[in-house]
Amino acid sequence: MARRRKLYEGKAKILYEGPEPGTLIQYFKDDATAFNNKKQGIITGKGVLNNRISEYLMVRLAEIGVPTHFIRRVNMREQLVRAVEIIPIEVVVRNVAAGSLAKRFGLEEGMQLPRAIIEYYYKSDELDDPMISEEHITAFGWAHPQDMDDMVALSLRVNDFLVGLFLGVGLRLVDFKLEFGRYYNDDDEMQIVLADEISPDNCRLWDSKTNEKMDKDRFRRDLGGVKEAYQEVARRLGVLPEAGPMDIKGPQAIQ
Ligand code: TMP
Ligand code: ASP
Repeated sequence: MARRRKLYEGKAKILYEGPEPGTLIQYFKDDATAFNNKKQGIITGKGVLNNRISEYLMVRLAEIGVPTHFIRRVNMREQLVRAVEIIPIEVVVRNVAAGSLAKRFGLEEGMQLPRAIIEYYYKSDELDDPMISEEHITAFGWAHPQDMDDMVALSLRVNDFLVGLFLGVGLRLVDFKLEFGRYYNDDDEMQIVLADEISPDNCRLWDSKTNEKMDKDRFRRDLGGVKEAYQEVARRLGVLPEAGPMDIKGPQAIQ
């Protein structure tokens, strides 16, 4: 494959220059981190599974009119996406008490919340992604009030849709994190679109019958069976690669 210019390397993905202007290639790695890089590991095949799972979810969301950066999956580990200006905010949507919310308010994990709760975090590894309010976002100019309205409306639509979609395959969508970007079309009109990925790396998914964790909490909390949980999510969504989550590394010598 021709050498491509690497534009950005994050903890779980790499962005390369795309084949046409205004596009990028998003490459999914097997690297896993938690607690802002304090815990590191490799989940073999995770990149392949997250590429498929995120493709599936982005396509389903586009079908209901949610604008996304996704264009198409290119191969086992890569997808073609629109180049967008990432808004430096992580939008977390919660349906059930878990993780940092449960800790902060002393809630029992698993308690159904009275309604979906949206939180914002500032994307900054150096600062450990501090929690922020709409006041910080607009005062510091990270997003305009109109962008915020769009992000909230899209996040709630995504939540309602994904809660139902996952429930249909026996999974409870406890919480998840979204990222948005500004996409400029040919007429230079700006649209807020869903970016990044949606996968068990940034969702909490519990089996709806047993409450078994089927997401990155298995890695964060050393529960074991991480790859198997991601595979099961892919299988239930009907997107498990037939050959298994093995990457194609190029021609292999036949023994
Ligand atoms: P939290 O309970 O740790 O705040 O996480 C809430 C949700 O956001 C959970 O589904 C995991 C996801 N998340 C990320 O995707 N990236 C992050 O850096 C953090 C802290 C959480
Ligand atoms: N993605 C974050 C990290 O790498 C946190 C997390 O998902 O737990 O550190």
